Amino acid sequence: AFEKNTAFVLFGASGDLAKKETFPALFGLYSEGALDPSTKIFCYARSKLTVDNLRENCKQYCRPSTGGNDKFKMDQFFKMVTYISGAYDTDDGYLRLKGEIEAFEKERGVTQPHRIFYLAIPPTIFLTVAGQLKKNIYATNGITRVIVEKPFGNDLDTSRELQKGFKPLFREDEIFKIDHFLGKDDLKRLLAVRFANPFLNGTWNKDYIECIQVWFKEPFGAEGRGGYFDVVGIIRDVMQNHLLQILTVALMEEPVANKAEAIRDAKVTLLKSMEKLGPKNVVSVGQYGRSTDGKLPSYLDDDTVLNKESKCLTFTEITMDVHNDRWEGVPIVMRAGKGLDEDRVEIRMKYKKNVSGMFAGCTPNEFVIQFHPERKIYMTFNTTAPGFVDNVHQVSLDMTYSDKYAKDWVPEAYERLIRDAFLGNPANYVRDDELDVSWDIFTPLLNYVEGPDAPEPEIYPYGSTGPKGILE
Ligand code: BG6
Repeated sequence: AFEKNTAFVLFGASGDLAKKETFPALFGLYSEGALDPSTKIFCYARSKLTVDNLRENCKQYCRPSTGGNDKFKMDQFFKMVTYISGAYDTDDGYLRLKGEIEAFEKERGVTQPHRIFYLAIPPTIFLTVAGQLKKNIYATNGITRVIVEKPFGNDLDTSRELQKGFKPLFREDEIFKIDHFLGKDDLKRLLAVRFANPFLNGTWNKDYIECIQVWFKEPFGAEGRGGYFDVVGIIRDVMQNHLLQILTVALMEEPVANKAEAIRDAKVTLLKSMEKLGPKNVVSVGQYGRSTDGKLPSYLDDDTVLNKESKCLTFTEITMDVHNDRWEGVPIVMRAGKGLDEDRVEIRMKYKKNVSGMFAGCTPNEFVIQFHPERKIYMTFNTTAPGFVDNVHQVSLDMTYSDKYAKDWVPEAYERLIRDAFLGNPANYVRDDELDVSWDIFTPLLNYVEGPDAPEPEIYPYGSTGPKGILE
């Protein structure tokens, strides 16, 4: 049930993530009637800011609500917001925050507090803030939930370290680790698409599928985010988490129930049957240079990239295998890059060719779940063209969100995830063992591409298709 009078605390309220995702999501939920107006949002950061500053900063990222009247809604929404400035490493600010939360709960007559803490802060201070909030503002006789943003660790060891650090502070069911792709509507929908359409799931296996492509292509670079990106790289930024999540939901067996733990169990089982990645899996690695016309900057041109010799990968393509009965031998290609020629994030299930019968050799089917540039799910389908012809051509059986759900409110990823945290539903959050296996798969690859025998990244022009020699 939706708790009344929740205290939602946003640490890092002055930052980029808060501005671009957290506030717009909270406002989105509020304006669509999915955030209880009795909620109070306590913003916390070091800078001396006002609620008006926060409003100004996030305004351009808030999307219009379906019912209109946004100016009024925004006025009402920001009445729920308060700002406290304080340090992250000393008690003082937390004690003031505690005072404000308790005053709010007292005024509302709350006897069992419901407090959600959202850590929109750099991972270097996760444990400092977590320790402070446990010490000073944990809801001892109520509910506490802590939402943590990626990156959750740097590899298997550091991720385990972090988990170990959280362990004495919070139970696992109190920690909500975000991978925002899990909140995306089309990924959620994939569960129903597969398991509510047995004819489809019946063909998702090695007998019918030739290969699987998971692509993440962005037409922009790491501009302005060099400080973050240069230590992270494309593999940690999107492959070990977002793309792996897409793949996992597409390839896992049917969960035994439509329940959080059953879904996460199914994911972990699948992840355990994936091979650990290493040198043999690498198809190509690259870093974007200037565009061919010289107008767009190279990765190293960016002021926020401090190391001008950086070998940070902005492009990686790998192949991988899943060793289980359903997928044995089906090649999986994962490709991710920034500064490319197009905006495209999708998973493409490529079917085998029809090798016999009256239509032998016709173009194989494809089933695609696309996240960018447009949300859509479609399948290419063979049929004959109209008129007196009987040659086969392909049409698309297409569910494009902007057509099908033009009038509906489709929650954005962060809207869904924040609402789930209010409701205490962890289904779309990452469980510890899931995180562990995903790092286990990717750590050997990271050790290779960042180690002494690392392959030299190919410099590809900004706005191009990426390094040469990639699989099609
Ligand atoms: C983030 C990455 O997690 O996901 C970014 O850090 C990437 O580099 C972004 O651009 C993509 O998310 P979305 O929701 O825009 O597809």
